[in-house]
Amino acid sequence: VSTLYEVKATKPINYKLIKTSNLFSHRNLSLLIGREHKNGVCVIVVDSAIYDLLVDEINSYYNHHKIEVTLIKIEGNEKKKTMDSYQEIVNVLDRTALHRRKEPIIALGGGVVMDIAGFVASTYRRSVPCIKIPTTLMGYVDAAIGIKNGVDHNGNKNRLGSFHEPHTVILDKGFLETLPHRHIVNGVAEILKIAIIKDKSLYDLIKTEGKASILSNFKLTGDEILDKSIIGLIKELESNLYEIELQRPSDFGHTFSPVIEMKNLELDMLHGEAVAIDIAISCTIAARRELISMESLTEIIELMKSLGLPTTHHSLTTELLMSGLEERILHRNGNQNVPVPSPVGECIFLQDISRDEISHALTYLR
Ligand SMILES: NC(=O)c1ccc[n+]([C@@H]2O[C@H](COP(=O)([O-])OP(=O)(O)OC[C@H]3O[C@@H](n4cnc5c(N)ncnc54)[C@H](O)[C@@H]3O)[C@@H](O)[C@H]2O)c1
Repeated sequence: VSTLYEVKATKPINYKLIKTSNLFSHRNLSLLIGREHKNGVCVIVVDSAIYDLLVDEINSYYNHHKIEVTLIKIEGNEKKKTMDSYQEIVNVLDRTALHRRKEPIIALGGGVVMDIAGFVASTYRRSVPCIKIPTTLMGYVDAAIGIKNGVDHNGNKNRLGSFHEPHTVILDKGFLETLPHRHIVNGVAEILKIAIIKDKSLYDLIKTEGKASILSNFKLTGDEILDKSIIGLIKELESNLYEIELQRPSDFGHTFSPVIEMKNLELDMLHGEAVAIDIAISCTIAARRELISMESLTEIIELMKSLGLPTTHHSLTTELLMSGLEERILHRNGNQNVPVPSPVGECIFLQDISRDEISHALTYLR
């Protein structure tokens, strides 16, 4: 064997998360970012709820700017995060005269739309730019922020997907005003994730301002919570965007949750609800190992309950959680790599969680 040539290349990643308001006001030029010519076409993959609420505003914006807009409606629902939806989008793209580099696809919706449209963008013509505009709290603080995309497949969460950075992420928290309460609480699970493993000051803010922020859909209060959470997450991801390192603090709450979420797909359990349950389990394991105090555990559980987050579920069994852990061991290259707080605001990784510890955590949380 002899090496004929060794390829060495690096891909710079550079994108901005920008904040704006009144996105569809004709004078707001954020939606024209990345477009290299004045008119032309624009394809927007749009969540069906956002379509129903805003179709007139969207059309009016693009008419004003003399751009021919095509809206592809996708239902924001985990059951629709599939290759069928992916294919549907590709079929429309094939009927549209989209310029490969100068007319980014726009993903406008919750995490489901972010993940599917991002996946399409990463593969269509071997990758085209995508602008992500989250309209749910889950999208705003998490799904739109990093570079992961994907769809569920064969009953497995995010089984098919890609790493493809967005061209730009446009954050307009005005979208949250119409978001149902349950979906606001759902997004708070990911904020709590970052707070517990990374940022004690964010955790303290959630204790003082979390409830009021939720009740006002983050309109009257909660800006600092949102900013700290987003910056905390992206700083955490930035040095390991392609997940070369498999000990990832942001996997906190994401060890048992994939299997919990998929098990309860028909019951419409939300992603953040499964993450919340995982956070409660992981913290209980941490407390039994004295990595956090029992007082801290009680405080976390009480905080979660007061915010409206679940901490357990009738579908949970030791077998289910063990199967989730085993699946994650494959995903994490043979190691458990389970992040847990030690103490609150910092994290370490466990490699030897036993069946007995999982069973104890379940009993405790019940
Ligand atoms: N790629 C990542 O890094 C990443 C991170 C976190 C979560 N996710 C994924 O995100 C998905 C969950 O996202 P989600 O919680 O946003 O769910 P979702 O996309 O299903 O949206 C939730 C609901 O809100 C509705 N909706 C959206 N915006 C609205 C608005 N402004 N007003 C009223 N209704 C609105 C949708 O129609 C839907 O019914 C999961 O599939 C999860 O795996 C991905």
